[in-house]
Amino acid sequence: MASYHFLLLVLVVAARIYETEAANKLSTNFYSCNCPKLLPIVKKGVKKAIGNEARIGASLLRLHFHDCFVNGCDASILLDDTRNFVGEKTAAANNNSARGFNVIKDIKANVEKECPGVVSCADILALAAQYSVVYLGGPSWEVGLGRRDSTTASRSDANNSIPGPFLSLTALIKNFANQGLSVKDLVALSGAHTIGLASCRTFAGHIYNDSSIDASYAKFLQSKCPRSGNDIHEPLDYQTPIHFDNLYYKNLLNKKALLHSDQELFNGSSTDNLVKKYATDTAAFFKDFAQGMVKLSSIKPLTGSKGQIRINCEKVN
Ligand code: HEM
Ligand SMILES: *[C@@H]1O[C@H](CO)[C@@H](O)[C@H](O)[C@H]1NC(C)=O
Ligand SMILES: *[C@@H]1O[C@H](CO)[C@@H](O)[C@H](O)[C@H]1NC(C)=O
Ligand SMILES: *[C@@H]1O[C@H](CO)[C@@H](O)[C@H](O)[C@H]1NC(C)=O
Ligand SMILES: *[C@@H]1O[C@H](CO)[C@@H](O)[C@H](O)[C@H]1NC(C)=O
Repeated sequence: MASYHFLLLVLVVAARIYETEAANKLSTNFYSCNCPKLLPIVKKGVKKAIGNEARIGASLLRLHFHDCFVNGCDASILLDDTRNFVGEKTAAANNNSARGFNVIKDIKANVEKECPGVVSCADILALAAQYSVVYLGGPSWEVGLGRRDSTTASRSDANNSIPGPFLSLTALIKNFANQGLSVKDLVALSGAHTIGLASCRTFAGHIYNDSSIDASYAKFLQSKCPRSGNDIHEPLDYQTPIHFDNLYYKNLLNKKALLHSDQELFNGSSTDNLVKKYATDTAAFFKDFAQGMVKLSSIKPLTGSKGQIRINCEKVN
């Protein structure tokens, strides 16, 4: 029994060291020799895209999140279906919902012109997410680089890994723990819902069936979104949907969250105190969000000789 426990301990420690090493393989200066203009090219592409449509910043952030939660940050979300696999684009959380693919495609084309075959699509996703947040007024963080791209994608893995808006707090905590993310990461990263929109289908249950929702806010949303669901979209932060700020948390305190999963973070349980803290302390939210993004961005990257540098993000070389 004792030796069994010892073996388990050794395995756990080894797994931890392995994980840390994988994350440490990413470095901020990975392309500084081979593609020194990468950062300005991505920045310019994001700026132009947000200039065309402010919401796209939110979409780019979400694209990176949905990439990383499905077998790591490996640009698997960008792959079109092939004879060999059904990809992630039509998974429940992505179909008619994930967006920003063309922005990544344009940026990748510009990067390929400058330094062909060098920069991964996964790194472009990570950088685009960070610039989007910064551009909309949020915190910055160091984006480690050196991820490589997957040669496969899986719709069922996406269905199973990306959290849905109907989950309870317990299920959300478990879903994040599966990715090595803490309760604090869950609460801080959910603050991404300070920007962007959600479709009626994702919040109909919350506005018709949940107890924890402000009555007039529910009534307003019900006037636009029928029980059966339709295609209208509403802001996740009804006050400032194109500014990255802490009003999302103030909305939770007032029972004005758009999604069930958002209000679950402030509904009389263990995460209430963190929500209160972020609602009154923007600096604390920004610090924890940035830390959470570094962790999210480092989930199981393909490094070294694993995977490949895709030339077209939507298909394997
Ligand atoms: C905690 C679990 C989470 C759940 C259940 C969840 C669920 C959702 C849902 C249902 C939508 C609306 C999609 C649609 O109707 O098209 C959405 C949008 C969004 N999510 Fe999350 N999300 C979660 C965490 C996150 C995280 C960690 C991030 C990023 C760090 C994020 C970033 C976004 C953004 C920016 C949007 C708006 C996208 C747009 O306007 O195009 N979410 N989320
Ligand atoms: C994805 O959405 C389209 C409608 O745009 C629909 O025809 C298709 O069945 C959906 N796919 C899945 C897997 O739900
Ligand atoms: C994933 O979810 C979609 C949409 O709900 C569903 O149509 C599909 O059957 C699921 N696919 C797999 C492989 O789990
Ligand atoms: C609300 O709850 C009822 C009863 O449990 C259920 O049948 C219905 O589908 C729910 N409505 C929405 C919009 O989720
Ligand atoms: C909040 O707690 C109540 C009471 O336990 C529960 O019925 C409800 O589903 C929870 N979540 C939301 C978003 O209302």
